[in-house]
Amino acid sequence: MKPVIVVHGGAGRVPEEDEEERWEGCRRAALAGWRRLLQGGSALDAVEEAVAFLEDHPLFNAGRGSVLNAAGEVEMDASLMDGGRLHAGAVGAVRNLRNPIRLARRVLDDGRHILLVAEGADRFARDIGISGCSGEELVTERQRARWEAMKDSPGTVGAVAVDGAGGIAAATSTGGLLRKRPGRVGDSALIGAGTYADHLLGAASVTGHGEAIMRVVLAKTAVDLLAGDRHPQDAARLAMAVLGERGQGEGGIILVDRKGRVGHAHNAPVMSCAFMDKTSDAPSLLW
Ligand code: GLY
Repeated sequence: MKPVIVVHGGAGRVPEEDEEERWEGCRRAALAGWRRLLQGGSALDAVEEAVAFLEDHPLFNAGRGSVLNAAGEVEMDASLMDGGRLHAGAVGAVRNLRNPIRLARRVLDDGRHILLVAEGADRFARDIGISGCSGEELVTERQRARWEAMKDSPGTVGAVAVDGAGGIAAATSTGGLLRKRPGRVGDSALIGAGTYADHLLGAASVTGHGEAIMRVVLAKTAVDLLAGDRHPQDAARLAMAVLGERGQGEGGIILVDRKGRVGHAHNAPVMSCAFMDKTSDAPSLLW
């Protein structure tokens, strides 16, 4: 099997001055995930690593650098899925964590539940020894200024990967929507909406307007569109048509199929994306 990883840094209207750094962030995240694959990590390990890298990057709307909700606070969602076993883990509306995707991974590994939210998720993190942080540590000056100016900041992050053994996985993480109501949980915490992986078909990570994405269960819809050996590029375009026409929303998607073929599409103005496989010396950008 030919390993591959694809990473996105969100779709939407991005300030022009941020664009180059966002593309570079995606490239470096793809490399972080790729190195995990080279070290013998699974597709699940690789997508977790790539997404954690972007959660640590202050320019993306995930982890530190997340947008602020109506109360001026950070609340984050994240999920990941292992397509081989259909095992998944997710967290919603979590506040005091640097890397929600790492907690989602521990939910998956624990295996008892799939989605933990708010205080229950925080308590689970403490119980298993994941150290928290103050809410203020997650707030960047840039996001505070954008919150005051009512300027949204796209940048949900995600990754999909196939490993050498044919394992396949997807992961997504976000701070959600600017000035959302406290307690709002979006598609990035929901298996099937923001994230889906099934080793019989492929894996998808979605970005964009969560309420529209949830209405059309977009990640699962896109993976199902891979049936009959449809190329992921065609499936990605069809999925965007579903989001626009049925969901009445904007966003973007990355897809990989079980053969390691890659697709990406967006109906929002910009989506930053990078991929890496054995044929490349360094991560390439996907436009
Ligand atoms: N797609 C991210 C969100 O709406 O929360």
